[in-house]
Amino acid sequence: MKVYYFDNSATSSPKPEMVYRIVDTAIREYSANPGRAGHRKAIEVGKKIYEVREKVAIFFGVKNSLNVAFTSNATESLNFAIKGAIPKSSHVITTNFEHNSVLRPLFYMQDEKDVKLTFINTYEELEKNITSKTKAVVINHISNVNGTVQDIKKIGEICRKYGILFILDASQSAGYIDINMERDNIDILCLTGHKSLFGIQGIGAICLKDEVKIKPIIEGGTGSFSKLSRQPEEMPEVLEAGTLNTPGVMSLGAGIDFISEIGIHKIKEHEDNLSQKFIKGLEKIEKIKLYKSLTGEQGPVISLNIEGIESGDLSTILDEEFNILVRPGFHCAPLAHKAIGSYEVGTVRFSFGFFNTEEELNFILEALKNIALQI
Ligand SMILES: Cc1ncc(COP(=O)(O)O)c(C=O)c1O
Repeated sequence: MKVYYFDNSATSSPKPEMVYRIVDTAIREYSANPGRAGHRKAIEVGKKIYEVREKVAIFFGVKNSLNVAFTSNATESLNFAIKGAIPKSSHVITTNFEHNSVLRPLFYMQDEKDVKLTFINTYEELEKNITSKTKAVVINHISNVNGTVQDIKKIGEICRKYGILFILDASQSAGYIDINMERDNIDILCLTGHKSLFGIQGIGAICLKDEVKIKPIIEGGTGSFSKLSRQPEEMPEVLEAGTLNTPGVMSLGAGIDFISEIGIHKIKEHEDNLSQKFIKGLEKIEKIKLYKSLTGEQGPVISLNIEGIESGDLSTILDEEFNILVRPGFHCAPLAHKAIGSYEVGTVRFSFGFFNTEEELNFILEALKNIALQI
């Protein structure tokens, strides 16, 4: 039976065929530990890892591919960025649309490192709140609750003007919007591989501008500088303690190849078309409360509620009666729900991916219409 998957914000599914194939190849043929031995198999794997480092660097406009470190996910990248690059007793500006992967490390910095936090809603507020103590701006590029897209060029320019570190959480945008660290003046780019970049779960990356230095949060083996008593300070070793996830790294490389073959603008166009048609369809259904982007630019993530049904119940009805898979609740972003007025109830989130079709979209609109009529 056909299943309608609209939970691409959680993780993209399906993956491109080439991603499945490369993971199989990685496990069978690239099974040695990269950087841990001088034998031919270890060297072969090391080359594959290096190729993907180069791909990530080219794709995101990172000048030097050694400034790309592989992590497990965006959460790890964001912890490295926030705990490793923000000085104690400083001031940080962020938004109400952050994920707990940003909020929790920031609140740790507030509680343990005397860092003051300011939460803003507009670009004007950003500039107004900058003081001599402001050392970083941490921004979620696309909200995973209502698809609010932030203007990163504008934010990057402000950060450049005041010499403040710009840390971007691109979990929901990488692979959907073209991002270039140099052009957009991003100092630290935090990525997860398993969403719009089409990699498997368990792979992420952090990319730094040349002049940015991060202190290690995790220390351990790097296969190099073995006699050093502490973690090497060089990128990428400083952030890559422990054995790398070779199948994950190679899946990320294949995901980037797939996006480059299709063209990121075509992917965006397709997902934007689905989002716009979805919104138009929803606006015709009575009893639906829609939560759209607050900046006017809409990402492929849209939340809603149907009057009289709990978000958890609605998602169960969609799953059990219509085979539609979505996510209910708070989506790990509690402050966003305060901002959009759904803090008590949560929302049901629909998130589109490249493999969703208009036919599927019409099916979910019909299902929602039926459910709303029966209430
Ligand atoms: C905006 C945002 N930031 C961070 C994350 C964390 O990503 P991961 O779970 O892959 O670390 C997510 C995941 O849903 C997200 O949507």
